[in-house]
Amino acid sequence: MSVDIVREFPDTRWDNYGPTRGVEATLEDGHVLSFPQLKFELAEVEYRFLDDRWLTENATHIALRWPERMLHGAVGDARNIGDLRTLMARYAELSEALALRLFPRYSGHLRRGDTLLHPIEIAGRLTPWRQDDSRMHVDASASQPTRGARVLRVYSNLNPRGKPREWRLGEPFAAHAQRYLRSITRPLPGSSWLLNAVRATQGRRTAYDHVMLQLHDHAMADLEFQHASSQARVNFAPDTTWAVFSDQVVHAEMGGQHVLEQIFYLDVEHQVQPNTSPLHTLERLLKRPLR
Ligand code: CO
Repeated sequence: MSVDIVREFPDTRWDNYGPTRGVEATLEDGHVLSFPQLKFELAEVEYRFLDDRWLTENATHIALRWPERMLHGAVGDARNIGDLRTLMARYAELSEALALRLFPRYSGHLRRGDTLLHPIEIAGRLTPWRQDDSRMHVDASASQPTRGARVLRVYSNLNPRGKPREWRLGEPFAAHAQRYLRSITRPLPGSSWLLNAVRATQGRRTAYDHVMLQLHDHAMADLEFQHASSQARVNFAPDTTWAVFSDQVVHAEMGGQHVLEQIFYLDVEHQVQPNTSPLHTLERLLKRPLR
């Protein structure tokens, strides 16, 4: 079986005048929406930020947190940090305008998460297996439980030297979940309360988060799945923007450098087709509520 889930659109602008709108169902069906001509413009003086010298030691990316508007993982004097914050805030605004045009039914319900800048080449990076994003997975965070909320990510490749962002894309979510259903265990009684109490998690981890973390870890550890399952290599060229529900689409990041990313959260009930969500899919497969 071949994997063909990228859908391309001709938009050249972010704002309300772009041609594509009302494509919630395409996104919710597990497609990656790609905009090969939608460029995030940098001013001449902003190209200095396409460099890993602005990263603090051991950081893999720079994060702009909302609503505090605080930068994390960046080093520099006040002027440079201020300029970088301005750049990243502009990306947050433009990607939000794009998302609200593409997905008008989410209007009023899309919650803005972190804005991230990834200045490091990811090919050949050494990471522990559980954090190795070059292995295929659906996103699940150990520290930031979503309690079922959807994770929408909008990316733009800013690479100034022609380098694509290289991904792999894999099987549909339901098929992926079915692979590991028999290995899914229930959490120890009280563990979600304890993790929250010691602040290991930001908010309480629900049964849903527990199952998603296990899916993530089982997939990461399964070398047979990594190499032999149906998958496709996809390159996102420089000046391409793309949007994906990363909690649903099986993906891996293989290479590339200088990418901006905006995270949004959406509660399942505000989807056009809530039954396509990982929450509803897992509840159907496991025949038990996960809320
Ligand atoms: Co991921």
